[in-house]
Amino acid sequence: MRKNKFIAFEGIDGCGKSTQAQLLKEHLQSMGHQVYLTHEPTDSHIGSIIRNIFKGRIAGDHKTIAGLFVADRLDHLQNQTNGILKKIEEGYTVICDRYYLSSYAYQGAHVNLNWVIEANRLSAELLRPDLNIYIDIAPEISMQRLKKGRSDIEIFENLQNLQKVKAAYNKAMELVKNEEQIIHLNGNQTTDELANEVWNEVQNLF
Ligand code: TYD
Repeated sequence: MRKNKFIAFEGIDGCGKSTQAQLLKEHLQSMGHQVYLTHEPTDSHIGSIIRNIFKGRIAGDHKTIAGLFVADRLDHLQNQTNGILKKIEEGYTVICDRYYLSSYAYQGAHVNLNWVIEANRLSAELLRPDLNIYIDIAPEISMQRLKKGRSDIEIFENLQNLQKVKAAYNKAMELVKNEEQIIHLNGNQTTDELANEVWNEVQNLF
């Protein structure tokens, strides 16, 4: 079994996963691990099409977005410059801020969930997270944090959509619970408390 791990952070917007991903990276590095922190949607051309749709600059419906995420993820895994598979091969522990569970939740809220899971099957076969860390917050808290932290709110960032996304996360996590390692953490605690809980779970992997 490989020693370096692949860890994905999940949760609705504003749950604190980006901060926790960064803190986990620093913690692992301080212990001598090589760590590569990355995110989806990516900064590639495909990722930028997705972001432009979310910003309302170009049109794209939910099925198209679901397809773009499948493509973005496959490129994220396989590209020869800084693809995740290459990094894993090189011995890095890879931390990904969102992976296919995000598609199950965000696209599965609008498009048939089983289709979304099937469409991402290739990515799951190429690389399944050793651990998915789901940080749970209420959609109302998510909206408050989004409004505080940002000037531009994206087109799907509204309370009603976040409620649908959270419900889809729950449904999807139940559906895939036998094939995925998922832990649920409470996002309503201080950054330090949450980081301790993340660490308690992650250290079991090594
Ligand atoms: P997010 O992690 O919130 O990045 P940022 O803080 O830079 O906005 O991700 C951006 C949005 O992308 C977020 O609202 C969730 C969405 N998303 C999907 O809809 N499907 C996916 O598969 C992924 C990875 C993200």
